[in-house]
Amino acid sequence: MNQAPVLDVKELRTSFISSDGEIPAVDNISFAVHKGEILGIVGESGCGKSVTSLSIMKLVPQPPGKIVGGEILLNGEDIVPASEKRMRQIRGNDIAMIFQEPMTSLNPLFTIGNQLVEGIILHKKVNKKEAFKIGVDMLKLVGLPRAEQIMKEFPHQLSGGMRQRVMIAMALSCDPKLLIADEPTTALDVTIQAQILTLMKDLNKKLDTAIIMITHDLGVVAEVCQRVIVMYAGKVVEEANVREIFKNPKHPYTVGLLQSVPDVREKKDRLYSIPGNVPKPGTVLKGCRFAARCEKAHDRCFVEDPDLYKQDDGHYVRCFLHAGGEQ
Ligand SMILES: Nc1ncnc2c1ncn2[C@@H]1O[C@H](COP(=O)(O)OP(=O)(O)O)[C@@H](O)[C@H]1O
Ligand code: SF4
Ligand SMILES: [Mg+2]
Repeated sequence: MNQAPVLDVKELRTSFISSDGEIPAVDNISFAVHKGEILGIVGESGCGKSVTSLSIMKLVPQPPGKIVGGEILLNGEDIVPASEKRMRQIRGNDIAMIFQEPMTSLNPLFTIGNQLVEGIILHKKVNKKEAFKIGVDMLKLVGLPRAEQIMKEFPHQLSGGMRQRVMIAMALSCDPKLLIADEPTTALDVTIQAQILTLMKDLNKKLDTAIIMITHDLGVVAEVCQRVIVMYAGKVVEEANVREIFKNPKHPYTVGLLQSVPDVREKKDRLYSIPGNVPKPGTVLKGCRFAARCEKAHDRCFVEDPDLYKQDDGHYVRCFLHAGGEQ
């Protein structure tokens, strides 16, 4: 892709400062997102996905959190040093975010219309009547029937799936260049999850908005993303296009994650999950962070930290088994 990326994250490090010192939750991660692209960020719970997305929004709770290094280039502007005033312009206008549980971002005391209109007025130079019309159009765009009626309703009157559609409408109502969706379907049942993912794909095609889709589920990645980065313990361990990663996963962690994706053709009682847990940030002081759980670990893995090695097919893998390129 030759076009300059919408977002270019370079060697980002975000830490939490505690009495034990600086604990790195996101440790030197780099990735770019281009116009119209859907990038997946996948990894188990605790790998640093949300801290990454909150860092991009500059919403990491500070203290104890802090971006301690790197750059976050939004259309070429490094927003790491940006003021809170500048960030308020950027949030909603340039980058919007949706979360797992829409109830946490919707105010239960105000109607959907109130909240939509308020956001639109804040970010677009329109009056209340125009904002209302844009709001109704957005609700229609995200596939909500009887949009005018929903404008008058309160969040608790809607189902979880409808609330997530409202959140997507709100996020997109100001034409952001980038939408960050942090586990947007995790709280929804499977059928509604599929509908929301289809909606996000359709909107991405229609509006050309770049999307970062954060998920613990490679099934979601397969469904919507073109490219994916796999995160483990605060680091990127593999990056590839989605077709490649399913056809030819290289990092032992990715292989494990793939084995835990439910396969509809196989009716297994229990799904495979990788034995052990993601180490807490700052606890693996030496060697590969996956070594304690890795079937392929060898002596070197416990003393040296692997780099992110470029493969002949454009894949990147942080594992000594792939240090020499294609294997
Ligand atoms: N406010 C916080 N204070 C201290 N540690 C935190 C805070 N938020 C997240 N962390 C730590 O950062 C790591 C990454 O968390 P997170 O990004 O939420 O993971 P994920 O979204 O991948 O499940 C975890 O070890 C978590 O305990
Ligand atoms: S570097 Fe070693 S421990 Fe780490 S993933 Fe590769 S084989 Fe496993
Ligand atoms: Mg998270």
